[in-house]
Amino acid sequence: MSGVQAAVEPEWVWVSKASAIAREVGARLRTFFSEGVETEYKGDVDLVTVADRTSEKLIRERLAAAFPEHGVFGEEGTRERLGAEFRWYVDPLDGTTNFTHGFPQFCVSLGLEQRPAGLPPEQDGTLVAAVIYDPMRDELYAAERGRGARLNGKPMHVSRRPELAESLVATGFPSSKRHENPNVHFYQEFTLRSHGVRRAGSAALDLAYVAAGRLDAFWEFNLNPWDTAAGILLVQEAGGRVSGFSGKPFRLDSREVLASNGLIHVELMDLFGDMFAGRNLAPILTPRQFAAQRAARAAKAN
Ligand code: IPD
Ligand code: CA
Ligand code: CA
Repeated sequence: MSGVQAAVEPEWVWVSKASAIAREVGARLRTFFSEGVETEYKGDVDLVTVADRTSEKLIRERLAAAFPEHGVFGEEGTRERLGAEFRWYVDPLDGTTNFTHGFPQFCVSLGLEQRPAGLPPEQDGTLVAAVIYDPMRDELYAAERGRGARLNGKPMHVSRRPELAESLVATGFPSSKRHENPNVHFYQEFTLRSHGVRRAGSAALDLAYVAAGRLDAFWEFNLNPWDTAAGILLVQEAGGRVSGFSGKPFRLDSREVLASNGLIHVELMDLFGDMFAGRNLAPILTPRQFAAQRAARAAKAN
């Protein structure tokens, strides 16, 4: 014995129980993934599979056993004990489109909100715990409010990149009413102004990657609380910033999220402001102009 006592970690009760659930469910998802599943349509290109439903059922059962007093709000329809002080937002499989195509980027996302008695339904409580598990990489992201964020048990932090021009950022696109969404314009503009924009297909993992410093920012329109609850707390506890596109406080039902390392947040907000006002857009060739140039070059060469 050296006589030096090991540091005693504060007990992460919510996270430790939720992590066990996420790992168990993640193992089931890995099996479904390797065996393949039938794709069903909830609407437009909004996909669902037996894996989503099985995962949500298992999470619901395990949460009820671990936290019998807590409420659960799940993407696949679970609505239990919504008057409770604590409420889990559950995305049983974030990245279903990837999953059905055999593209190994998806996760389980569990975010815990504390809602004081009497809080009106339209108001957010406080996010207090988060677990996101990527079963293909065996990566578990976790946070509790005020205790920091961890990746596989090690502290994680957002990046220190100070400018969009040097940043790697990410976004996603909705799976319904796609013609009503302008995000492809933002995708274009951010592509021209950064090291690149990734569209990997799992919003929860995108947020976890911002928290881990692998991405410098993420934005998306029209996400739901089950997509964002856990990832938001991860980013905040890893030292980042989360808001709406104009800097308004993020709300679980605000349906727009801008998450960053904090250092580039104002620059991103300004760009959103310019774009919504139609100012300072970087010019890019239209396909027609490109085809005309190409034809002109070919004619000159012949
Ligand atoms: C989707 C993913 C995707 C995002 C979509 C979400 P799902 O969630 O997070 O990255 O772009 O907006 O709906 O349907 O796979 O749980
Ligand atoms: Ca989702
Ligand atoms: Ca889902």
